[in-house]
Amino acid sequence: RQREKQTLFEAHAYTAKLYHYLLQNTEAAKSAKDYLRSRGFSDKLIEEFGIGYAPARWDTLVQALARQQYEPAEMERGGLLSRKQDGDGYVDRFRDRVMFPIHDGDGRIVAFAGRLMTDGQPKYLNSPETPLFNKSRTLYRLHEAKGSIRRTKQVVLFEGYVDCIKAWWAGVHNGVATMGTALTAEHAALLRRYADEAIICYDGDDAGQAAAQKSIPLLEAAGLRARVGIMPNRMDPDEYVSSYGGEAFVRECIDGAVSAVKFQLIYLRKSHILLEDDGKIRYLSEAVRLVARRESPTERELLLKELAQEFNVSVDTLKQEVVDVRRQEK
Ligand code: UTP
Ligand code: MN
Ligand code: MN
Ligand code: MN
Ligand code: MN
Repeated sequence: RQREKQTLFEAHAYTAKLYHYLLQNTEAAKSAKDYLRSRGFSDKLIEEFGIGYAPARWDTLVQALARQQYEPAEMERGGLLSRKQDGDGYVDRFRDRVMFPIHDGDGRIVAFAGRLMTDGQPKYLNSPETPLFNKSRTLYRLHEAKGSIRRTKQVVLFEGYVDCIKAWWAGVHNGVATMGTALTAEHAALLRRYADEAIICYDGDDAGQAAAQKSIPLLEAAGLRARVGIMPNRMDPDEYVSSYGGEAFVRECIDGAVSAVKFQLIYLRKSHILLEDDGKIRYLSEAVRLVARRESPTERELLLKELAQEFNVSVDTLKQEVVDVRRQEK
């Protein structure tokens, strides 16, 4: 068991080197190189992130691993090869994709994500769950980010690999990404070992905003303070950096991230029509509920003052409502 894991670690390291070599040195990888260039990847970024290319043929890795004396059945368990549809024999799992290596917390390559260069499904093919790789425990780039997370006591959470990479380029070195799945309590507990605060920097589309909503209670339950970076126009962080540059990204989305409750209030507003009185009343009563959940009396007071001012009601009325809600929820 331990020996198999050791073999799989070595096979992943070998495979990553091979894919990277193929990207940087072969004519067959020209379309992959062009694709990466079109998305703003310099050679420096390609090197730093160990990006590679898995060729279109079915047996590049099958042959290469065989030459290294690796057992194909074992490589299939490791998620590098797939069994042939019609029974015996193996084929490469990743074909004609740009390859992003994924490391564990100790910096060993344990999986890959392969991106299609054209429209199609799935856009990213990830390694399956294997003896080395568990999605709900792995965070992309944690091995490189943890030093910076420890120093700053802060982690930035992304939903995409490319978002994490472009943010790093912009100077955000404490960023990690989940692996195409929702953030888990295990992720949150892991991050709490290094950080006091998490900045959620998900996509600005509906899916990303809904995922941010769900991540807030998970992070807070683990003891992390949560803030949210606001993406305009449904952009994702990669698109933001490409459109407005790295400095604007750091200033507006990271340093300018709003508190969890501010984000919850912004999110709540979208589902209420505030032009009408009953819309206002419903919004205010749900907003008060969110404020009531905050533990800090000062935070509650500041939020209530803002709400009172905006809706032209007295702070005392809202305070009384908070008291009632807190009593009910105890
Ligand atoms: P997105 O759909 O937001 O993709 O998925 P993206 O990161 O912006 O990708 P680009 O910029 O088009 O290359 C966010 C994340 O969800 C996972 C990946 O981790 C991706 O980065 N995902 C998405 C998958 O695992 N498989 C998919 O088919 C799509
Ligand atoms: Mn290189
Ligand atoms: Mn998305
Ligand atoms: Mn995205
Ligand atoms: Mn994107």
